[in-house]
Amino acid sequence: MKLLVVGGGGREHAIIKKLKENPTITEIFALPGNGGMAKDATCVAIDAKNIDAITAFAVEKQIDYAVVAPDDPLVLGAVDALEAKGIPCFGPRANAAIIEGSKVFSKNLMKKYGIPTAEYAVFNKMEEALAYLENAPVPTVIKADGLALGKGVIIAQTREEAMDAVRSMMQDKVFGKSGDQIVIEEFLTGPEVSVLAFTDGKAMVPMVSSMDHKRAGDGDTGLNTGGMGTVAPNPCYTDEIAEECMRSIFLPTMNAMNAEGRTFKGCLYFGLMLTPKGPKVIEYNCRFGDPETQVVLPLLESDLLTVMQAVTNETLSQIEVVFKKESACCVIMASKGYPSSYEKGFPLQIPDEIASNVYVAGATIKDGVLVTSGGRVLGATALAPTLEEAVSGAYKLVEKISFDNAFYRSDIGKKALMLKR
Ligand code: AMP
Ligand code: GLY
Repeated sequence: MKLLVVGGGGREHAIIKKLKENPTITEIFALPGNGGMAKDATCVAIDAKNIDAITAFAVEKQIDYAVVAPDDPLVLGAVDALEAKGIPCFGPRANAAIIEGSKVFSKNLMKKYGIPTAEYAVFNKMEEALAYLENAPVPTVIKADGLALGKGVIIAQTREEAMDAVRSMMQDKVFGKSGDQIVIEEFLTGPEVSVLAFTDGKAMVPMVSSMDHKRAGDGDTGLNTGGMGTVAPNPCYTDEIAEECMRSIFLPTMNAMNAEGRTFKGCLYFGLMLTPKGPKVIEYNCRFGDPETQVVLPLLESDLLTVMQAVTNETLSQIEVVFKKESACCVIMASKGYPSSYEKGFPLQIPDEIASNVYVAGATIKDGVLVTSGGRVLGATALAPTLEEAVSGAYKLVEKISFDNAFYRSDIGKKALMLKR
């Protein structure tokens, strides 16, 4: 079989590596992929948002199955376009990807169907948002409606900060059209858990839970990033909480999307907060999380292509999806300065003996040499019987990788280990 994977980061590298375990796959094309995954896939320089070019490529290469991984192409309708050419896909259609593409949509969906989430109000006029904030409690959370590269959420500690955030989104348009509408929402507290789930609209199969580390610096300090590391499973996510989430969040979300005529097929990501009043949804993503995927998929025992095809064919309830009873830790190595400005183009060495544990997010081949090309450069993942061993294993991998200006958090997994005790 010939496969196509749309996207080019660490998440896509993890998906490709897992898919490759299936012996029926003869070739995988990554659009655009990156130089660091060139040994695992044929990378083709087509932008993940160029739906016409992706579709034309898939038709020309007679692709048997396509996986669309990032949010942008999903929201833009890549799956709809590929399906229209008869190519089976993994990923939601545009009418379902809106669950991530519009925060106003997802908040209204949760309200309509009684799915627990933070209280909120929606505004499309700046003056009304500012007036509302006069009496709103702080801290408060301001969210741009549309996709904003993971940066469209501002936790404001004071009213002034909240008003500044509203002005920057609605007046200065720092997130472009994504800020035409905003959500102002109640500030929740509690440990965060990421749960990715396979769903075909009929069955909901949660994967092993995980914990992201979003801030750039140790001790959860510094700027928000795309994610600096992950561990799985998340020790806060007990069997009891998992059952409650299934009953009050996962199945109701699947049923709500069906009832709206927007059946969601693919990987649905639940960003949850375990509040004193029970688990609540912080956000939905219409795709695998990054870097959650770099710990969740290595723990998947079952064949990924078989699971994905069952989602496509709506036969998910007929197969078993099994996870290893181990722990995983992924430490992200980034370019110094990320998520603000950083230098790139530094040679990157990944020893062969650990290459299978490394997911490359931002590298390119220049004059035959692999060099850094992004903020997040790679993730190193270790699996072990205990979380403690997985964490130390991941840091041992990191020590074996070198590039100039590398930076990484030294406390990935620390919070999880503390919560475990
Ligand atoms: P996002 O950029 O959408 O992944 O969200 C960024 C982070 O903002 C989340 O991981 C939470 O830590 C935080 N956050 C979002 N909404 C809320 C909320 N209502 N209360 C507290 N924290 C929140
Ligand atoms: N790690 C969170 C995300 O993928 O958006």
